[in-house]
Amino acid sequence: MKSLQEWIPKHILQMSPYVPGLQLNEEKIIKLNTNENPFPLPEFIINQIIEFVKQNQFHLYPDPESKKLREKLAKIYNKNTNMILIGNGSDEILSLVFRTFLTIGDSVLLIEPSYSLYPVLCNAIGVHYYTLSVEKNFTISVERIIEYSEIYNPKLIVITNPNAPTGISISKQKINKLCEVVKRPILIDEAYVLFGGESIMEEAGDKFPYLMVCSTFSKAFSSAGIRLGWIIANEFFIEQIHKIKDSYNVNFFSQKVGEIILDHYDFFLRRIEEIQEIRDWFIQKLNTLGYFTLPSSANFVFTSPPNKNAKEIYEFLLRNKILVRYFANYPEFLRISIGTKIQMEILYETLKNF
Ligand SMILES: Cc1ncc(COP(=O)(O)O)c(C=O)c1O
Repeated sequence: MKSLQEWIPKHILQMSPYVPGLQLNEEKIIKLNTNENPFPLPEFIINQIIEFVKQNQFHLYPDPESKKLREKLAKIYNKNTNMILIGNGSDEILSLVFRTFLTIGDSVLLIEPSYSLYPVLCNAIGVHYYTLSVEKNFTISVERIIEYSEIYNPKLIVITNPNAPTGISISKQKINKLCEVVKRPILIDEAYVLFGGESIMEEAGDKFPYLMVCSTFSKAFSSAGIRLGWIIANEFFIEQIHKIKDSYNVNFFSQKVGEIILDHYDFFLRRIEEIQEIRDWFIQKLNTLGYFTLPSSANFVFTSPPNKNAKEIYEFLLRNKILVRYFANYPEFLRISIGTKIQMEILYETLKNF
């Protein structure tokens, strides 16, 4: 008789469980480790959601195409609705893209560091990934992406812009150059772009047929809990990705909440400005404590304390009920999500006491 292990493919057995970020179920913890938006949805939106819930249509299947939500995004980005696909968070979008484009024997080009889910998806499909490290100053060199793409011939190139965990963005001019030269599928993950990057969403799929751009409601739109993401690409690519999605991949409730949110797009843009102001204030405060912080175009900062011992500070903050992100492979740095002004003031005062 076969052992239980023998029923599981080797590449899955070799994987470790994927943990997106430590979750602590303590109420009083200040949670600055997963780059959520610190502001909950405003009351006027909650009231609209309540009205919708009262219609009590949960016995029906949701629209499998999330058509209304796609129409609203199409208007914002000046696109045809057939160039948009909605996912259960952009994590699902990423998984769908990887599974559509890649099969065993293919390879992907990733940047190191970037979003930790990409290598997990490669491992799950059993494809190889090459990594291009960021430069010494943590920027991404588009010239080197072009070079690597010629050397390694990857089937897909994935770039996070602005990058995580660094927060550094690539200019639109450089992305344009990349798309003009590299004639193969490029996926740009713009999860954080509204906090200060330059979006190339409008160019995806038509000006650059190989370019796919995805984003999420989790950060700029205060909605990590409802799990909504989208991708814009040429109609043919979208059609292929659509083939492998679950029939009802986005639930009824999330579709409606997404539609309501997009009706108040400008409200969220104003909130983003507030987060940018808190971020810039916090970076100044970190400077006064002698921290070295990378220039951030996102809703988080990547910062190194004067003693370069980020782990010690991480543990100290945790004892003080503040949760930030520590990466063992970048032991001099902490990634800190931007919270409310009050949360960041408490964090600053705590760091001062270290
Ligand atoms: C770069 C990047 N892409 C995608 C995601 C996932 O977003 P979602 O909540 O839409 O799945 C994250 C989450 O932190 C992220 O950092």
